[in-house]
Amino acid sequence: MKDILIGHFKERFGRNPSFLARAPGRIEFIGNHTDYNKGSVLGASLDLCVWVAIAPRVDNQRNYFALGRGALVNTSCEVYDRLQGDASWVNYPLGVLVAMREAKLKIPEGFDYLVMSNLPMGAGLSSSAAIELSSALVFLQATNQSVSKEVLVNLGKAAENNFVGVPCGILDQGVSGFGKKDQLVYIDCAGPLFATVPLPSKTHFWIFNTHTKHALVDGLYATRHKECMDAAKTLGVNYLVEVSIEQLMQNKTKLSLNVFKRAKHIVEEIDRVNQMIAVLKDGDLRKIGQLLYLSHQSSELYFENSTPELDFIVATLRTQSEVYGARLTGGGFGGAVMALAADNYSQDLAEVVSETYRKKFGNPLEIIHAITGDGASLI
Ligand code: GLA
Repeated sequence: MKDILIGHFKERFGRNPSFLARAPGRIEFIGNHTDYNKGSVLGASLDLCVWVAIAPRVDNQRNYFALGRGALVNTSCEVYDRLQGDASWVNYPLGVLVAMREAKLKIPEGFDYLVMSNLPMGAGLSSSAAIELSSALVFLQATNQSVSKEVLVNLGKAAENNFVGVPCGILDQGVSGFGKKDQLVYIDCAGPLFATVPLPSKTHFWIFNTHTKHALVDGLYATRHKECMDAAKTLGVNYLVEVSIEQLMQNKTKLSLNVFKRAKHIVEEIDRVNQMIAVLKDGDLRKIGQLLYLSHQSSELYFENSTPELDFIVATLRTQSEVYGARLTGGGFGGAVMALAADNYSQDLAEVVSETYRKKFGNPLEIIHAITGDGASLI
């Protein structure tokens, strides 16, 4: 991939890039919307990545080019306005520059910048965190700085929260930064603290991408965030992680029905992540799968961030005995389902799911047999 990246850079800018990095997309294994509630979450980094290359310029201009995504975007080094329309993807690297400046780090002046990706967009596999982390790595290298992984991850999150404007938690950037092949990343988001847990052997991830996305997805994410914060406030705590299931049930009448449902999802989901840690140690694949299905059901019933398409895929996967468990992955309101399956699960079986889906919804699914890979790095 390095040679391909260099080749595209040369073709576009007529010279070699000086700094190159890659960062992976991620699967949210379990822990849905638990991160900004300071609970815990498990994710896996994929071998599908975003690659970034830059070369410095001396004329105070920054040129951004995304392979396969239209025209070159030019800004001068003094301008940090958010971009709209086709150029809005530049808000990710731009947001990283702003986050670096706010963290009192040096930032590069002019540069030519090229990004390419084999991560499917809009599947909930976190292409945004991957572009943030790979950009941060090249910007840091271009200014001769190195930071801890924790700082790297936080730069990405700050770009997303403060510049792009999504009140996300640490899951996406944390997994893209701390990921390891054949491992799950465990994040205790209260710290945050990062650790890895081996993936159960003889299992594989399959992703079923619907290519559907709710028109109001960012707004809905922000609404869920607010409902969770409202629940915490009413219950007299800073974050829902501080609430037990018993406390929640005792205080049910203090909350509106919707806010109660959101809180129930979060409090029980945090509990499911903790159960998952124990079950992963035992390696009981059926129990692991059951927790995945329960998580999806809770999204469907209580957090209401699933869709009929995602529910249908999960229901179809339930009928296949090679599948241990499945759930929506990521923020929801469209996107993809991930399944944990036995190693004899096959493309043919995945095609059956896609065909069943096509008969109902008109379009086939994008099927990805997902392999895990290492976290963000310079290349
Ligand atoms: C998105 C956000 C994450 C997390 C998930 C839901 O991926 O970026 O921070 O909240 O949704 O778990």
